[in-house]
Amino acid sequence: MDKKSPIGVFDSGVGGSSIWKEIHKLLPFENIIYLADSKNAPYGNKSSEEITALSIKNVDKLLELDCKIIVVACNTATTNAISTLRKNYSIPIIGIEPAIKPAALQTTSKSIGILATKGTLSSELFSRAAREFRMEISVVEIIGEGLVSLIEAGNLDGPEMISLLKKHTKPMIDANVDYVVLGCSHYPYIIPQLKKILPKNVKIIDSGEAVARQTKTVLQSLNLLREENTKPSLQFYTNAETDTLKFLLKEYSDKISVEKSNF
Ligand code: DGL
Repeated sequence: MDKKSPIGVFDSGVGGSSIWKEIHKLLPFENIIYLADSKNAPYGNKSSEEITALSIKNVDKLLELDCKIIVVACNTATTNAISTLRKNYSIPIIGIEPAIKPAALQTTSKSIGILATKGTLSSELFSRAAREFRMEISVVEIIGEGLVSLIEAGNLDGPEMISLLKKHTKPMIDANVDYVVLGCSHYPYIIPQLKKILPKNVKIIDSGEAVARQTKTVLQSLNLLREENTKPSLQFYTNAETDTLKFLLKEYSDKISVEKSNF
C-alpha cells in the first residue's frame, strides 16, 4: 500500500456514489474503488450486529484490493460500526454522519428535520450528537422508510417516491423546520424531488462535501496523496445488477468501470 493505492469507498448500495462524486471532484487524480453492497441493501432496518458484520466484510474486500484509506459512505454503517472498524483495523477510516451541527447552528425557526434510516436514528452515536442540540432547538427525526429500495431500483421520481416523500416531510413542514438534514447517502439523489415538495425557505443539507474534505485532510496529513496528475483508475463493483449505478453515474461513463462482483 502506498500513495498510488486507491481510496476505498463502500455503501450498502448505490447511494454512496453521491459521496464518491464529491471525493472525485476534490481529488480528481486519486484512484478510487467503490463497493456497492446492493445485494444486502437496505442496511437501515438491520441490527447493529448485522450492519457491523457487513461493514467488516466490505472493509476486508477493500483491503484485499490494496486500498490506502477507507471511506464509509453510509451513515447507517458509520453510526453503527465505525468504532468497531477503527478498533479492528489500523488503516485510516473516514465516516459520514448526519450534518446536525451546521443545521442546528443556522436555523432561525429553531426547528430542523432529519431524514435518515432507522439504523442511523436509533444508533448511540446519532443520539449522542442530537442530544447536544435538543435543549435549544426542536429536532424532527423521520425514518425515510421505503426510500432506499426505490433509489436502489433507480426509481427516483415515480408516483411511489413522490407520495413517500410527501408523507415523510409532512411532520417536518408542520413543525416549521427551515433545515432538512439528509442523513443517508442515498438521499442526495432525490434533492430535486424534495425541493418541489418542501416550502421555498427550507434548506437541504448533506455531508458529502465535508466527507471529501476530511478524506483529503487525512491523506495529506499521512503524506498519502497520489503524486501523478494522470488519469486515475475509477472502479465500481456491485454484488447486484449494474444498471442503477450506471444510470446514477452516467455523466462519468467515459472514465469509470462498473462491474458485477461477488463480495
Ligand atoms: N446509504 C446508507 C446510509 O447512508 C444506507 C441506506 C440503507 O441501506 O438503508 O445510511
